[in-house]
Amino acid sequence: MKDKHLTTLRMIYLFGNWKMYLDLEESVALVTELCNVKLPTHEYVTLGIFPNPLAFVSVRNVFKGSTFFLGAQNVGWTSKGAYTGSISAELYKNAGATYALVGHSERRYIFNETNEAVRKKVEACLDAGIIPVVCIGETQKDKDANKKEYRLKKQIMKVFEGLSLDRKEIIIAYEPVWAIWPGTPCNPEEARDTHELIHAEIAKYTDTKVPVIYGGSVNAENVEQYLSLNGVDGVLPGHASTKIDTFVPLIEHVIGLFRANP
Ligand code: 13P
Repeated sequence: MKDKHLTTLRMIYLFGNWKMYLDLEESVALVTELCNVKLPTHEYVTLGIFPNPLAFVSVRNVFKGSTFFLGAQNVGWTSKGAYTGSISAELYKNAGATYALVGHSERRYIFNETNEAVRKKVEACLDAGIIPVVCIGETQKDKDANKKEYRLKKQIMKVFEGLSLDRKEIIIAYEPVWAIWPGTPCNPEEARDTHELIHAEIAKYTDTKVPVIYGGSVNAENVEQYLSLNGVDGVLPGHASTKIDTFVPLIEHVIGLFRANP
C-alpha cells in the first residue's frame, strides 16, 4: 500500500489537537512531561500542540525554547474590541500562536459553524500572520448519501475561491468525521484517494502548494500507513496526543521513519 518513500517527503506536520480533553493542570502536567522526555527531532518534521484557550499561555511558558509550535483550537474573526467571549487570531498571534485550527468538524457540527464563518476566520488568521489549519471532512450521513465529494468540494471552494494568499501559508486537514476517535479509522486506500481529490480540487483555485494533513484516530500503530501515502503531508491526532504514553511513541515513530529514510 505504500505509495512512496518517506525520502520524497520534504516537510511533514505532526499536530496534537488536545480538544477539551485536558484541564489547565493536566495540560501543564503533560507539557512538562513532554519537555522532560528526550524527544528526537528532525528538520523535516514540524511538531505542534493545540491546547485549550485557558491553558494556552501556561503551555507556552513551559514550552519556551522547545521544538514545539503552538496553535489555537479556534479563533474569532474580529480583531480587538467589544466581542464578549471571543479570542481573535490577532490576540493568539500576540500570545505566541503560529497556527490555528479553523472549521474543525466539532465546531461545524456541534456549534453550527458555517462555511461562511470558516472563511472569515481563515482571512482573520492570514491577516494576523497565523497559519490557518482548515479542517474539512464529510460525515457518515454525507457518505451514505453519496455526498462525500460534493461536501469536500464545497468546503474547499468556500475556503479558496477568491482568496488572496499572497505567499502566505495555509494548511488543509482532511478529517473524515466518521473516523474521529472512537470512530472507525479510515482505510489507507480511501485516505489516499481522498487526499488526491483534495489536492486536485485546491489546484483549481491556487498555484500555492497547500499541504494536506490527515486526522481521524491516528496513533503510533497506524501513523506509518498514512504518512506513506502520496498527498498526505502530516497528521493531526486528537485523543492519542493527550496522554504521554500514546503521544511520545507517536512522535518517536514519526521521527524514526525519517531517520530510517534520511
Ligand atoms: P482523534 O485522533 O481523537 O480521532 O481526533 C482527530 C481530530 O479530530 C483532530 O483534530
